[in-house]
Amino acid sequence: MAKVIPVGIAGLGRYVPEKLLTNADLEKMVDTSDEWIVQRTGIRERRLAAPAQVTSTLALAAARQALADANMPAEELDLVICATITGDQPFPATACRIGLDLGAKKAGGFDLAAACSGFVFASQVAAGLVGSGQFRNVLVVGAEILSRILDYTDRNTCVLFGDGSGAAVFTSLERAGRGEFLGGSISMEGGAETILALPGGGSRHPASQDSVNQRLHFMKMGGTKVFRFAVRVFAELVQGVIDKYGRDQIGVIIPHQVNQRIIEAAMEQLGMPMDFVFSNIDRYGNTSAASVPIALREAYDAGRLQKGKLVVMPAFGAGMAWGHLLLRW
Ligand code: COA
Repeated sequence: MAKVIPVGIAGLGRYVPEKLLTNADLEKMVDTSDEWIVQRTGIRERRLAAPAQVTSTLALAAARQALADANMPAEELDLVICATITGDQPFPATACRIGLDLGAKKAGGFDLAAACSGFVFASQVAAGLVGSGQFRNVLVVGAEILSRILDYTDRNTCVLFGDGSGAAVFTSLERAGRGEFLGGSISMEGGAETILALPGGGSRHPASQDSVNQRLHFMKMGGTKVFRFAVRVFAELVQGVIDKYGRDQIGVIIPHQVNQRIIEAAMEQLGMPMDFVFSNIDRYGNTSAASVPIALREAYDAGRLQKGKLVVMPAFGAGMAWGHLLLRW
């Protein structure tokens, strides 16, 4: 699809639920300690959705903020893409509920399942469709309620993740006036069904009494393998941007908020100081597809998106699937 129209980001939004789950709370639930969690991950607390909230509820709040930031009524949206692995239900798409609740009357929509890389991938799809002239205004929302698929008896996983949502409105650069889309990447390497996965509920292990007894409807993870993979691809993705544009062009790196140690190890490998990085992992943990857009909106609020400088967003996760989104602010 040839790029004919320069694309930008008109608005950003984020939402996190009110309820806090602190490391002290987790100490009462599993055999862990605040010290272990902070030292190994940098996470101090995360947010949990209220029982009445579903993923589209979280998505809606971030989407409304992004549309207000873009000064764009929902009726002007042509497409809604929801990046999630914890949608309201397996089908219909959560995007359909978001579109209805927003009042996006003429928009189409679909969900995109790429786990922690979801927002970065969906944003490239959105920018491609705007750039080709097929759609004018596309909303991308990354939203997750990971607490509904976490096993709060498994200390290997339950301390790492949280709930939240983030959103961005893609439109022509002329209308957006900022956040020029420069490109990105989408990569995958299959065969990770046992490394980082939700095994139950699909065609491999449909829901049954047996799948429930085996706890297959909870996330499973082999932490060390994921750690090494994440450091390697994070460093490679940023190095690719440096090779093409030069290090002095980079204003901020907003990585998938996976683990502070992974971020630090990758930055060390790159020989770059941590000042380049925007991180909020201490407050939210890993929110999968919501992590990059929550951090993007918070970096924007903190004045970390510098005019004319590059915003590099590397992401990586289950699949394995990884890639990056590159903007010039
Ligand atoms: N509290 C206390 N101990 C814990 C624990 C917790 N919450 N979670 C795991 N452990 C234990 C393990 O049971 C294991 O014990 P064992 O050696 O007796 O079997 C030990 O800690 C593992 O220690 P170590 O190998 O030093 O941990 P680590 O430095 O690799 O850190 C992770 C573990 C999970 C924090 C780390 O591997 C990680 O962050 N991986 C990436 C995971 C991730 O982010 N996945 C999502 C990617 S999108």
